[in-house]
Amino acid sequence: MNLIDGKKISEDIKLEIASEVEKIKASGGKVPHLAAILVGNDGGSLTYVGHKVKSCEQVGFKSTLLHFEDANAVTEDFLLSKIDELNKNNDIDGFIVQLPLPKHISDQKVIEAIDPKKDVDGFHPTNVGRMIIGLPAYVSATPAGIIDLLDRYKIETAGKNCVVIGRSNIVGRPVSVLMSQKGKDATVTIVHSRTKNVKEICLQADIIIAAIGSPEFVKGDMVKNGAVVIDVGTTRVKSDQTKSGWKLTGDVNFDEVAPKCSFITPVPGGVGPMTIVSLLKNTLLAAQGKIYKK
Ligand code: GUN
Repeated sequence: MNLIDGKKISEDIKLEIASEVEKIKASGGKVPHLAAILVGNDGGSLTYVGHKVKSCEQVGFKSTLLHFEDANAVTEDFLLSKIDELNKNNDIDGFIVQLPLPKHISDQKVIEAIDPKKDVDGFHPTNVGRMIIGLPAYVSATPAGIIDLLDRYKIETAGKNCVVIGRSNIVGRPVSVLMSQKGKDATVTIVHSRTKNVKEICLQADIIIAAIGSPEFVKGDMVKNGAVVIDVGTTRVKSDQTKSGWKLTGDVNFDEVAPKCSFITPVPGGVGPMTIVSLLKNTLLAAQGKIYKK
């Protein structure tokens, strides 16, 4: 069994991005600039956005955080006007609006207000649609991170049976599309809450991508010997083994499944660290005008 070390790979990629930034600087170019909008004080979102800003510093990007702490004071119109400002601000190459937003603001309306050329989260329907038909697009962070891990570990995907568990817009559905595209060439099955015979389908899988957010859903008897297992789950569950009283738990029962695998991602330290790297990669692409011409 080989552990897929997302932390190590993400650090390698950050060094590669930092060296690109050095090259840009040396040739007198403009340093990539990422902006983030955060509404309210949700603990998880504060942590995520904090990591994003810190990662920008690590690779030499400029970053701007627009934090509106009083969520009740932020109307949808106000947020849309801020997005319009960022769309028009030529110094900013890409930006994100941290989700979820307060209930009185429509996530979808906000996502669709972002200029697709600056949508480095890859959530705008234009980017999702372009990705699906194989045009250059910003691909969202988790699916892109999963593909990077498979590539870096040179895991063969062509002609393999890939079972994706979960059909969310941010992970299951896009990663199922990416795995079936030319270059990856897997035969993909999506398993969801209405699927019959989940266990039998999973037992056919050469590659399982578990993204349902149900702790330890994938058990040892659902996985064939030699399978590759990618665990996207990050559910906080109570634990008496940690100081905080909580631990992050994946969608895979690691102790049961790992001994059967050729490769498996741990939680934490697998897919998670790759997601910020995907955002940094998209921001670099935005600054370089490689997806959409500047
Ligand atoms: N909330 C949880 N994950 C994400 C993400 O990748 N982007 C944004 N904008 N919000 C999130």
